[in-house]
Amino acid sequence: MALTDVFHQHPERRYIMFGGKGGLGKTTFSAATAYWLAQQGKRVLVFSVDPQASLSDIFQQNIFGKGPVKIMDNLWAQEIDADQRIKAYQDEIRQKILDMYGFDQVPEEIENYIAAASAEPAMEESAIFDAVVDIVVQGDYDYYIYDLVPLGHALYYLSMAKVYDEWIGKITKLREEMREYEKVASVMKRQKELPEDQILNELQYIRGRISASSSILTDRRKTAFFFVLVPEEMILIDTRKAAELFARFDVPIAGYVVNRVVPPELAQQNVPAYLHNRIAMQERYLQDIRREFGDEVLAHVPELERDVTGLPAIERLAGIMYGA
Ligand SMILES: Nc1ncnc2c1ncn2[C@@H]1O[C@H](COP(=O)(O)OP(=O)(O)OP(=O)(O)O)[C@@H](O)[C@H]1O
Ligand SMILES: [Mg+2]
Repeated sequence: MALTDVFHQHPERRYIMFGGKGGLGKTTFSAATAYWLAQQGKRVLVFSVDPQASLSDIFQQNIFGKGPVKIMDNLWAQEIDADQRIKAYQDEIRQKILDMYGFDQVPEEIENYIAAASAEPAMEESAIFDAVVDIVVQGDYDYYIYDLVPLGHALYYLSMAKVYDEWIGKITKLREEMREYEKVASVMKRQKELPEDQILNELQYIRGRISASSSILTDRRKTAFFFVLVPEEMILIDTRKAAELFARFDVPIAGYVVNRVVPPELAQQNVPAYLHNRIAMQERYLQDIRREFGDEVLAHVPELERDVTGLPAIERLAGIMYGA
């Protein structure tokens, strides 16, 4: 099977992700795939939560924290600015406190508390997570391409959906039980209806969003998750481990894409020794990859003469990957 087949045979898989260790080509492949799909007439959003702003680099345009930015016909790119989201959170909390207590200014202790809470790494994670949820549940595009951060982290985000969901599930259940108890109590006291339970409503709302997004991201029918690797020993070892972990979190893998393959025919030419050796080394790991992943290997992408930046280079790579 080839990379194009995944798209042609499974048009319902509209959430595309490229995962893998750092620096192997996730952003590059995300951009090339987005380009190809846009050329096929699909409306595509490629997005990332990477603070390094690597989509800005590859598209040679500053898009960081600017919402979806149009790159060309049918193609939009978005980079989430976590700090901006955290500031928006802070403002929201402040406003709620002002409204609830009728202060005209947030008391200093509370300001300090907000500042301390915002410095927590968990705050950043949840701001990012929330932004991703916003993007995936909205559903305006034909394709969503999630340019993931390096493996460990990506796994963390995906697993977080599960953990969040379980956690909120527990709280919601507790709250519902309390609510039942309150109802009984009010009947005994012959009270009328209970007031609307705002906390319960909010919890149920959050829960709905999380399970909508995690079911999208882990649903084989809707998602294609591609693993990027290169023919090197350490990468192969890490890829095996990661594939097991992803399986444990029910993230279905659509296939593997092998990057930076030095064209083996070069070995027949008069090339320096180091290149000869590199080709021989790669050949060994390419065999291992074939043996282990077999049909799941969807493409081999050659080592190009330079970095992939700018639309012409992206177009060329899309041609290599998708034969367009
Ligand atoms: N086949 C290739 N030939 C030449 N250069 C490549 C190739 N694939 C990727 N690159 C270059 O390698 C660098 C790293 O690629 P990229 O940014 O796509 O990796 P990444 O997996 O997204 O990294 P990170 O984990 O940091 O997000 C980039 O400069 C990119 O242009
Ligand atoms: Mg990247």
